[in-house]
Amino acid sequence: MAERPRTALVTGGARGIGWATCEELAGQGWRVVVADIDATAATRQAASNRSMLPCELDVRDPASVEAAIATAVDELGSLDGLVNNAGIQLHSRLEDLSFEDWATVLDVNLHGALRCMQAAGRQMLAQGRGAIVNVVSVAAARGAPGRAPYVASKSALVGLTRTAAVEWATRGVRVNAVGPGYVQTDLMQHQVDAGLFQLGPVITRTPLGRLASSAEIARTIRFLLSDEASYVTGQVIYADGGFLADYGVPSSVMGGDASAQH
Ligand SMILES: NC(=O)c1ccc[n+]([C@@H]2O[C@H](COP(=O)([O-])OP(=O)(O)OC[C@H]3O[C@@H](n4cnc5c(N)ncnc54)[C@H](O)[C@@H]3O)[C@@H](O)[C@H]2O)c1
Repeated sequence: MAERPRTALVTGGARGIGWATCEELAGQGWRVVVADIDATAATRQAASNRSMLPCELDVRDPASVEAAIATAVDELGSLDGLVNNAGIQLHSRLEDLSFEDWATVLDVNLHGALRCMQAAGRQMLAQGRGAIVNVVSVAAARGAPGRAPYVASKSALVGLTRTAAVEWATRGVRVNAVGPGYVQTDLMQHQVDAGLFQLGPVITRTPLGRLASSAEIARTIRFLLSDEASYVTGQVIYADGGFLADYGVPSSVMGGDASAQH
């Protein structure tokens, strides 16, 4: 008997890392719900691939989340994977940060992921099978000036990932996170265009010496969703070109370029 295709829902699936993940999963035979607050973009993207289904989703709205998970299960028959990818950033110096901006970012990046994990988790626990990947960031592991709510949301999401992983491990549901370094996406480009980010120093600071493509992050996400990662749960894989592994001080300053050793 032919094996039934695996099924997944990707939040923020209409562009950037989310869209690359939809393409990667569909390319590996999965059926995918492209779920995004931008319903027009989700519909346009999903129309390009017969394995995809568009869905309007606002992760800030509990009813919208419940409806999206129900649509996925109704249309695809089950839900094997969830990718919590939808994320936003707002910038402010900490001393000037409004509580409104703080709450806006946390509501999407952290509470949105929690809502989706709970709704999809209930379905996966009932099936006795499932895998969840939360998209965090290198900002989960470092302070980043001007980005307090973003950093707080991503590091809290790592804690939520670990807790869900240990709580659901014996019931067939694995939960992991992928922490991208700097990726060439709309989100990144908007920051560069707004003068909030300079690519040159970031590339110099990244041992692989370049930004990631969305496809490179998508492959890491797909690995964690797949049975190849059957013994992996509660982990964060930083797909960051070596960013976090690096000491952060140029080798010229550290004497790493010197041929003589003392
Ligand atoms: N781009 C990077 O360099 C980078 C680095 C580290 C982590 N990340 C993380 O990766 C994820 C994707 O980033 P990206 O660069 O692809 O972003 P992007 O802005 O290109 O795409 C984000 C998508 O999320 C959707 N979205 C926004 N709010 C939503 C909501 N309330 N409900 C549902 N969908 C919503 C948007 O419509 C958009 O399609 C984010 O969680 C981000 O924090 C990105």
